[in-house]
Amino acid sequence: MTMGRTILITGGAGFIGSHVVRLFVSKYPDCRIVNVDKLTYAGNLANLNDVSDRPNYRFVKMDICDFSGISSLLEEERVDGIIHLAAESHVDRSIADPFTFARTNVLGTLTLLEAARRHWAPSGWNPYGNGCLFYHISTDEVYGSLEMTHPEGIDPPFTTEASSAGHKCYGDDFFTESGKYLPHSPYSASKASSDHFVRAFHDTYGMPAVVTNCSNNYGPYQFPEKLIPLFINNIRHRRPLPVYGAGENVRDWLYVEDHARAIDLVFHNGKAGETYNIGGCNEWKNIDLIKILVRTVDRLLGRAEDEDMNLITYVTDRPGHDARYAIDSSRIRKELGWEPSLQFEEGIGRTVRWYLDNQDWLDGVTSGDYMKYYDSMYGNR
Ligand code: NAD
Ligand code: DAU
Repeated sequence: MTMGRTILITGGAGFIGSHVVRLFVSKYPDCRIVNVDKLTYAGNLANLNDVSDRPNYRFVKMDICDFSGISSLLEEERVDGIIHLAAESHVDRSIADPFTFARTNVLGTLTLLEAARRHWAPSGWNPYGNGCLFYHISTDEVYGSLEMTHPEGIDPPFTTEASSAGHKCYGDDFFTESGKYLPHSPYSASKASSDHFVRAFHDTYGMPAVVTNCSNNYGPYQFPEKLIPLFINNIRHRRPLPVYGAGENVRDWLYVEDHARAIDLVFHNGKAGETYNIGGCNEWKNIDLIKILVRTVDRLLGRAEDEDMNLITYVTDRPGHDARYAIDSSRIRKELGWEPSLQFEEGIGRTVRWYLDNQDWLDGVTSGDYMKYYDSMYGNR
C-alpha cells in the first residue's frame, strides 16, 4: 500500500536511481518522494528535469554517511520506506580508490540502517510497524564469477517474451539467491558487506528489510565511464574503444526501466527478509556487444557499414576481471510475476538513439560543466 507514504530514495540523481524516482513520482502522486543524493561526479540533477517540479518530490543534497543529517530528515519527513541505491558503482574506480567504496557503500549503508532503526524502533526490540521497509539495491557481482563452460554459446535454458532472437548463454551455472558470496573487486566486496549488514539488521533487530541483486543495467542517463555509454560516445567521436583482455567476458544485460519496474514490485510485494535476483536472461560477450554498438551508431549516423570497427583496441585486462555473470531470476518471475519487457535489440537501439539525441547531456557530463553548475547551487563537493 503506497497511499500517503513517504519514501526516501537514496542515489536518485544517479543512473538507476533517476529512473526509480521518475517512476515513483509519476506513478504514486499521493506518495511523497524524498531523493537524498550527495551529487558526486555520478549524480546529476539534469537526469530528473522532467519530474523535479512535481509537488510530491523533494531533493535533499546530503551524504548518506551523515548520521545526524539522515536521522533528522527521517524524523522531519516521517519516512516509512527507504529504497537505497546511493553507492560508488564503478569497478575500475574501486580498484584505484577502494577506501571511498568502503566509506559510502559499507559505512553509508550502515549509517542509513542505524538511523532507520532508531527512527522506526526508538523504544527497543522489534516494534516496527506501519509497513516500514528498508530496501537495499545490490548487484550480482557479490556472487563472484561463473564458468564459461560453453565458450561458443548454447541456447539458453529458458526464454522469455523479451529474449533476443539468436542470443546465447555461455555456461551451465547461474547466480541464484542461495549462491555463496565470492566478491572479487573492492566494489563487489563493499556491496557484499553492505548486503550482510542489511540482513544482520533484519535478523538481529527484526527490521523489515529486503535485498535485490541485479545484473548489468543499460539505458539513458548512465555515466559514460560504463561500457555502453562510454563506447557509444567514443564511436561518435571516432575515439579508440578499449576492450579489456580478449573481450570474451560475459555480462547479462537488462534495460534500466525493467529494473525500475522490478524495484517497484519488490518494494510493494516483496517479502521482508527475502532476497530476489533480477536479470534479463540476456548474456552477451563484450566483443559481440561492442560490434552491435559500432554497427548501430554507424547506421544511425549514416556512416558506411562497419566503418568504425577499426576503433576496437584490445588493452590490458582489468585486474580480477570476472569472466561471466548470468542471473537465475526465476524467484521474482514466479513469486512476483516480473518479466523484462524489452527485447535487447530494441533496448540497444533506443539507448544508442538516446545518447546520440542527447549530446548536450553527454558533453555536459564529460566536460564536468554540470558539476560546476551544481557546486554554485549547492556548495562545493
Ligand atoms: P551511479 O553511480 O550512476 O549513481 C550513484 C548515485 O549515488 C549518484 O547519484 C551519486 O551522487 C550518489 N552517491 C554516491 N555516494 C553517495 C553518498 N555518500 N551519499 C549520497 N549519495 C551518494 O550508480 P547506478 O549505476 O545507478 O547504481 C545504483 C545502485 O544500483 C548502486 O547501489 C549499484 O551498486 C546498484 N547496481 C547497479 C547496477 C548497474 O548495472 N549500474 C547493477 C546492479 C546493481
Ligand atoms: O553486474 C552488475 C554491475 O554491472 C554493477 O553492479 C556495476 O555497478 C556496474 O558498473 C556493472 O559492472 P561491470 O564492471 O560489469 O560494468 P562495466 O560497464 O564497467 O563493464 C562491462 C564489461 O565491459 C566488463 O566485462 C568490463 C568491460 N569493459 C568495460 C569498460 C569500461 C571493457 O572491456 N572496456 C571498458 O572500457
